[in-house]
Order: sequence, then C-alpha cells, then structure tokens
Amino acid sequence: MKRLAVLFAVLAVAVAAVILMLPRGPEGGDKGAERPIILGFSQLGSESGWRIGNTRSVITAAQRAGVQLMFKNAEQKQENQIDAIRSFIAYQVDVIAFAPIVEDGWDNVLREAKDAGIPVICSDRSVILEDDSLITGFVGSDFYLEGVRAGEYLLKKMADAPGPVRIAEISGTIDSTPMRYRALGFRDIIKDDPLFEIVYSQSGDFLRSRGKEVMEDILITAGPVDVLYSHNDSMTLGAIETIEQKGLNPGKDMVIISVDGEQGAIDLLKQGKINCVVECTPMLCDMIMDLAQRLARGETIDRITYSEETVFSDFDPDVLSIPPRWY
Ligand code: AHR
Repeated sequence: MKRLAVLFAVLAVAVAAVILMLPRGPEGGDKGAERPIILGFSQLGSESGWRIGNTRSVITAAQRAGVQLMFKNAEQKQENQIDAIRSFIAYQVDVIAFAPIVEDGWDNVLREAKDAGIPVICSDRSVILEDDSLITGFVGSDFYLEGVRAGEYLLKKMADAPGPVRIAEISGTIDSTPMRYRALGFRDIIKDDPLFEIVYSQSGDFLRSRGKEVMEDILITAGPVDVLYSHNDSMTLGAIETIEQKGLNPGKDMVIISVDGEQGAIDLLKQGKINCVVECTPMLCDMIMDLAQRLARGETIDRITYSEETVFSDFDPDVLSIPPRWY
C-alpha cells in the first residue's frame, strides 16, 4: 500500500513537470514556465526581394533562438494583418510582432492586444496611435536617415552641375513609414538649393511591375529628367527595364538612386547602371527574437532599436568588392 502511494506521488510529480513544459495553447497556461515562448508574427506581404529576405530572417531567427513562431502573411492587405493579430490574441501568444503595411488604423486591434496583456513590437515599419503605450517597441531602419543619405549623395554627385537638376521620384506604398520618411529626409537635404527640382513624384507601391510602369509615365509626361530617386530596389529594377527599352543608359543619361541593397541592385551598381544604393537591411529578426524573449520574461525594452546601415555608391573605390548578398 505504502509502495503504491509512493508510486502515485512520483507519477504525479512527473505529470506536473510534463504539463509545465508543454507549449501554451488556446486554453492558456502559465506564463514564465520553462518552455519556448510563442511569437505571433504578421508579415505584410511579399512585394519585394527585401520583403522575401525579411520573411526568411523571421523564420531562421526564430529557429536559432528556439522561439515557437506563428507566422501569417497578409498578402498586402491591412485587414488580413488585423485578422492575424486577432488570431494571435485568441491563441494567447506571449508576444506579437508585425510589419504594418501603413501607419494608420491600428488603434482598436492593438488596444485588444494590450487588454489581453500581450506586448506588441513593430517590425520594420511603425504606426501612428492615439495612445503610444499600445506598442512596446520598434525594431527597424531609420527611414528619415535613408532619405537624408539619398539627398546627400545627390548634392555631392551634382556639385558641378551647370544648370537645373530635374528629379523624378518613384515612392513606396502611400501612407507607409518608409514612403513618408524617405521622401521627407530627401527633401530636407535638397530643399534649400534652387538647383534641384522634383518635377514628378508617384507611388510605385514598392513593386517591380509598378516601377516599370511609372517609369514609362515619367518619360512620357515629365520629359527628360536628370535623376531618378526610387524608394526601393524592386521598383528601380523595373524602372531600369523601361529606361533601357527606350534606348537610354541608366546611370549615365540619368543618375539612379535606390534604397535597400538587394543583390540585383548591387549587381547593377557594379555595372554602373545604378549610381547609389542606400542600404536598408531586412535582417532585423535576431533583434526581434531577443526583444520578444526579454518581454516574455517581464523585462522592459528600448522603445526604438535601429539597425546599422550604410551607403553603397559609385564614389566608393571598393564598389566592385561588395560581398554577395543573400536577398
Ligand atoms: O519597409 C521596408 C521597405 O518595404 C523596403 O524598402 C521595401 O523593399 C519593402 O517593400
């Protein structure tokens, strides 16, 4: 009898230990137990090489960190991202991260996350909220600085320009953080010099196909331009297809400034068809995993974590030795 009681006691301890180590499901469980944390990640879509690299970064970083990842791709629709965040809340994940397609329209769903006690990290892009406490932290690029860097390159490149410099801009998704701040930083640098004039600006939605189309429109409606400032490499690659189809030489007949640093754009920089690539790295996700684990342990994190980036351009004597990129 005594032996049986001891056996039951040992069994009870073993069962309790197994339950504590189980990942938490929709029915809930203890926070802070010895189990992998669950991160719900809502990706905005697959619009560019950068985005595909960023998705790969989320998946591989989660594996490296031992984080259990619930990943949803919103296929370029804000409503899909809102649905994804709601499903993460219903599942009671430990932390939510998301790359918001646009800045506005998140207050309600983020209030629901806060009410459920789930911290939220903005990845890559940020949001505009009535109550800033609905977001715990941001990890991504300083898009204003990227615009400034693009403008500074142009000032240097055009230092000896004899006459007006006519600029066409293909911007990113309307109302997205990179679109707003890449435009603003660039304008802040060139605005005091009357030599520079932005004669055309239209969104290409960060898509290669739209970059190609918008470039056709530029050549028809804006007339000859000296500079193309494109908010991402995918649109730049599309625009260059059009420029070459029209018998022009990109990088020579027109200075081309791009943002991101995809392999395709770096190859064209080496060939002299792009003059400047302002780097924007998609490799954000080791930082996100680290912050998510700290939040799950109840620690506080910095509100903003910027990634380190550089500029690649035809001023760089070592441009041909830029190492291979993986996106
Ligand atoms: O938010 C980052 C931007 O989004 C990248 O520059 C672009 O390529 C992507 O689509």
